[in-house]
Amino acid sequence: MLEIKELTVTVEGKTILKGFSLIVLPGEIHAIMGPNGAGKSTLAKVLAGHPFYEVVKGSIKLNGIEILELDPEERAKLGLFMSFQYPLEIRGISNFEFLKHSYSAIHNVKICEEEMREIIHPILEKMKIKESFLERDLNDGFSGGEKKRNEILQMLVLNPKCAVLDETDSGLDIDALRIVGEGVNHFMSKDKMIILITHYQRLLNHIRPHFVHVMVDGRIVESGGPELALQLEERGYEACSKSE
Ligand SMILES: Nc1ncnc2c1ncn2[C@@H]1O[C@H](COP(=O)(O)OP(=O)(O)OP(=O)(O)O)[C@@H](O)[C@H]1O
Ligand SMILES: [Mg+2]
Repeated sequence: MLEIKELTVTVEGKTILKGFSLIVLPGEIHAIMGPNGAGKSTLAKVLAGHPFYEVVKGSIKLNGIEILELDPEERAKLGLFMSFQYPLEIRGISNFEFLKHSYSAIHNVKICEEEMREIIHPILEKMKIKESFLERDLNDGFSGGEKKRNEILQMLVLNPKCAVLDETDSGLDIDALRIVGEGVNHFMSKDKMIILITHYQRLLNHIRPHFVHVMVDGRIVESGGPELALQLEERGYEACSKSE
């Protein structure tokens, strides 16, 4: 399970996360919604181990192991995967090389090119990504929607225990949204955990979360089931911030 307790995080002297707590059990999908600037991406980056953020209080345990002191690669080896709101473009390393390197590092195995292609192929088909994308530099020149689909491809190839998806739906056309939804549903099983950061309830038509949380000003102010996302669409976040 993923256990985030009383997480307080500052960046350049400004407190962004203010005692954020959340428990995600295996088999659960938790959606996090909330206004711009609430700290959702900061939470994702702190989970990934971004060095820029200072954790001043709290803990993050993955299956009982405190991960705050671990570097991003060690966290990935424990089964944590992150899909970023703005995926990085990396020139000089192909999408395929990136997947192969990450796969062997995370699973601590040597894998040859042929075996890696065998793993990737069915997933390419599922995600409706052309084979030629494997040979292109990582995310370089990919359209916004292509980057997001590529992130889900990475998730399916690397097969982590816990995935944090930051606005994976932003910029997706209607078909891509469905494909991403199917990819995430295919990944999900009784021992996986997902934190889904999103602004729109439309993604939740494809991926049904067990819980929806509203994050305002660095902490969760309201939690509920999938119906909460629909209510928020009607009433906005105003009432949530006032209920603090
Ligand atoms: N490196 C930084 N330096 C200064 N302020 C930062 C930095 N990173 C984040 N912040 C601030 O932290 C706050 C939270 O940002 P964050 O990106 O986590 O919000 P968010 O909830 O993901 O918003 P959005 O819905 O727009 O993606 C914002 O006010 C942002 O300006
Ligand atoms: Mg964000």
